[in-house]
Amino acid sequence: MKVTRSLICFAILLGLFVMACRNSSSENAKGLRPTDAPAKTDNARDAHSYSNPEQVRVRHVDLDLDVLFDRKVLKGASTLTVERIKPDADSLKLDTRDLKVVKAETSNDGKSFAPAQFTLGAADKLLGAQLTIQLPPQATKVRIEYETSPNASGVQWLEPAQTAGKKHPYVFTQSQAIHARSWIPLQDSPGVRVTYTAHIRPQENLRAVMSAEVEPQTRGIGYRFRMSQPIPPYLIALAAGDIAFKSLGNRTGVYTEPVMLDKAAREFEDTEKMVVATEKLYGPYRWNRYDILVLPPSFPIGGMENPRLTFATPTVLAGDKSLVSLIAHELAHSWSGNLVTNATWRDFWLNEGFTTYLERRVTEAIYGREREEMEAALGLQSLKKEMEDLSDADEILHVDLAGRDPDEGFTLVPYEKGALFLRLLEETFGRERFDQFLKGYFEQFAFQSITTDDFIAHLKKNLLDPNPELAAKIPLEEWIYKPGLPASAPKPQSDAFAKVEAQAKEWLDGKTPAAKLQTKQWTTQEWLHFLRFLPQQLTANQLKELDQAFGMTKIGNAEIAHQWLLISIRNNYDTAYPRLEEYLTSIGRQKLIKPLYEELVKTPAGKERAQKIYAKARPGYHPIAQTSVDKIVKKA
Ligand code: BES
Ligand code: ZN
Repeated sequence: MKVTRSLICFAILLGLFVMACRNSSSENAKGLRPTDAPAKTDNARDAHSYSNPEQVRVRHVDLDLDVLFDRKVLKGASTLTVERIKPDADSLKLDTRDLKVVKAETSNDGKSFAPAQFTLGAADKLLGAQLTIQLPPQATKVRIEYETSPNASGVQWLEPAQTAGKKHPYVFTQSQAIHARSWIPLQDSPGVRVTYTAHIRPQENLRAVMSAEVEPQTRGIGYRFRMSQPIPPYLIALAAGDIAFKSLGNRTGVYTEPVMLDKAAREFEDTEKMVVATEKLYGPYRWNRYDILVLPPSFPIGGMENPRLTFATPTVLAGDKSLVSLIAHELAHSWSGNLVTNATWRDFWLNEGFTTYLERRVTEAIYGREREEMEAALGLQSLKKEMEDLSDADEILHVDLAGRDPDEGFTLVPYEKGALFLRLLEETFGRERFDQFLKGYFEQFAFQSITTDDFIAHLKKNLLDPNPELAAKIPLEEWIYKPGLPASAPKPQSDAFAKVEAQAKEWLDGKTPAAKLQTKQWTTQEWLHFLRFLPQQLTANQLKELDQAFGMTKIGNAEIAHQWLLISIRNNYDTAYPRLEEYLTSIGRQKLIKPLYEELVKTPAGKERAQKIYAKARPGYHPIAQTSVDKIVKKA
């Protein structure tokens, strides 16, 4: 009896000991927690992936691709290194979209490969098709031969005419949120971090760049890359074309087409300073180099934080550095997003709200508080305006996106409401304490993918619980789980904007003609505020007066032009229509073009104009921009 009892005790203790070791070894050391562990709650499950990382997990992706401009296809193989999480797992499940899978093979030693059975499931409109590959018990590598579709949702192929140089074709990828699967078969979930290597061979000997370290050129053709820090798949990125490089500083530089190089370098001359400022606030920059790739104008978004190589729209090249907070934003993702990553797209606000907050702090450090306040005020205005048309559910930070395209979560709520929440924490606990907290947060969760629950637990433990009186001022539940803007939201105040409003009133009241307004020193932000502040309806004479005084229709700054064109459509100011057409056929950035189409389709004549312009513009737009503008123009 006694012997069995102590044996049982011993067994239980041993069990506890093993469990404790498992927990601590799976934490931090390899940087794998917490998404490697079986999900504690449903919140850690990714509703936008068909993959099975809780059974078999992809750890490394090795790409070997030809870039075939003539067929608009990436063709080659992806070799995945896998780790078995469940010892008895017998298949690897991957995400794909519109891929042509030629062959699958597995290997135990990474050298000799044997054919493997695979099945490609039915294609779901939202998620693509699940690729299931049978795994022999000892397999550690899976090699998939495949090619992409010319219509891959994450790849845009450009004709020479769509580039600045007009001579060579161009291609680029945009993987966020779930488009990596349209050019690489993998476990396309932000909770699955991978390292990657790549060998890319563009036709015509054009240059390839990736979100990775460029391997020193050895022999043979093409370019080799290595990303040795584990990143979520949506950060794998590739571009190829006639691309030149110019250094900006020690560890910063800009890539773009040769004819754009000098302009881009001038615009982004503060990049090195931005890296230094962000490091001072939030700890070391962990990715070694920070370069920027300026894309052709069809790039569908403003910027994309691909690690080591931000992708950016050329519409930020205003000539006066006035739109470079976009760089501060993408750079800040090197901490919030790329180092500490949202585990699922429900947690997107952990990426974007933090990054918008960091962006403003960096903007303040480099361009001053006034500029920061103006940008925060513009952000809040835009948020309030957008929320007028959002459902309650979409106003929640911890938004439910199951059954929907995660790109639908790309509203200003995660960005601006998220940033205001952090600003409230800063104002309540004081800068010094909050900066320390954030630094600790990036340190603690570096190279991990975390959920909103993980963040809240960390916040409580490190900021709220130790300071109960201050914590009482933070209605946490309301901020994270309720729609609307909480009454506790900070209110960014800009004195400069108050002056702009006074000038606008002078003009609207007929006291001062437009040409006599004090606008000489206005920055882009003040112009934007002035135009947004004007009433919706203006007379033909008023529009003409503004245009004559300030040359509005000819303005090159893409943000100011956007605001002016909105006003022009709303008031049927036809002098601006040629410019409108030129704008919509030359720029593909959704934030700038969608609102213009939306405004156009509000009237029958506008609808006709929208259809006419769109017929010309559509072939030049990115697949995701085509899908979103289709919805606006075809619905109308
Ligand atoms: N990561 C986002 C872009 C994104 C979000 C792509 C969701 C696909 C799905 C990027 O960091 C971003 O926020 N870009 C903004 C610019 C920024 C200054 C607010 C954009 O593109 O407008
Ligand atoms: Zn962002």
